[in-house]
Amino acid sequence: MTAIRTPVVSVLLDPDWASGSLVEDVRRGLASHPRTLPPKWLYDDRGSDLFTEITHLVEYYPTESERALIGAHAEEIVTITGADTVVELGSGTSDKTRTLLDAFDRAGALQRFVPVDVSEATLRTAADDLSVRYPGLQVEAIVGDFTLHLGHLPTGGRKIVAFLGGTIGNLYVEERAAFLGALADSLEVGDWLLLGTDLVKSSDRLIAAYNDARGITADFVLNSLHVVNRELGADFDVDAFSYVPFWDPHMERMDLRVRAEMPQRVTIPGADVVLDLASGEEIRVEISTKFRPDGLRTELAAAGFAVDHLWSDGDFALTLARRTA
Ligand code: AVJ
Repeated sequence: MTAIRTPVVSVLLDPDWASGSLVEDVRRGLASHPRTLPPKWLYDDRGSDLFTEITHLVEYYPTESERALIGAHAEEIVTITGADTVVELGSGTSDKTRTLLDAFDRAGALQRFVPVDVSEATLRTAADDLSVRYPGLQVEAIVGDFTLHLGHLPTGGRKIVAFLGGTIGNLYVEERAAFLGALADSLEVGDWLLLGTDLVKSSDRLIAAYNDARGITADFVLNSLHVVNRELGADFDVDAFSYVPFWDPHMERMDLRVRAEMPQRVTIPGADVVLDLASGEEIRVEISTKFRPDGLRTELAAAGFAVDHLWSDGDFALTLARRTA
């Protein structure tokens, strides 16, 4: 019998982080062109539930593609990496990661799991759950922002950092380079990155994936206006907005926006902002960049990672890369 080890949860976000950074994001984003709200704010409780619903939609292929790729290659990943510590950035419920943890566990190789997420409640539930599921595993959860707190990853042992779901596609090109560079800096030579990325494909399929027939994605994206209303006392008339997703072929990314269907003045007391929107004016809420294998190799190399394997079903890619000297 192996004893269950109590998870350790480190909270690196100060309690005001959420409201503080929302104010800055809203001020800066709404003054820029196009007007922008940051995607982080899509994931309040309702947004997280809606995203879970999205992952079950027939049109939204990435989740199941990635799950199958992880299932098919978990054993190889264990053997190739020889890791004893699994870090997961933006871990949420660590649902797909369990397949990977199972494989490490079967090999007797799993010592430590470090999930990193901004949602403390989700993280605590997942940490408790995983401690019971894998007796002997030390869970060291970090409540933090993976763009800010990479310097706090544990040292020692051989690490593999999983960043799944295609979430890296939410970052702009410069943010992506900065993120990958900071991640490389936080790792030791020989550590591993397991990166999930969605791939460029026909615009029809992409638009379908982000404009589902039941309108769940529309609700998910429009929910960001509800978040600003609630958190900053704003008066966005959410019903007066429509959802506008489009494929940007130049940047090779989905661009998800909301559009004011009539002119309106929006007051955002919490950010000291008054916004006059013309009819038809748009606010970008999320980008979802799609990748090509060659581009991925180049970007990773520039940051200090050498691609060891790139597994793909043609729709989605799972890349295993190693921190080089
Ligand atoms: C969770 C960021 C990977 O970009 O596909 C799904 C979010 N937005 N449908 C994605 C999302 C609209 C998703 N990521």
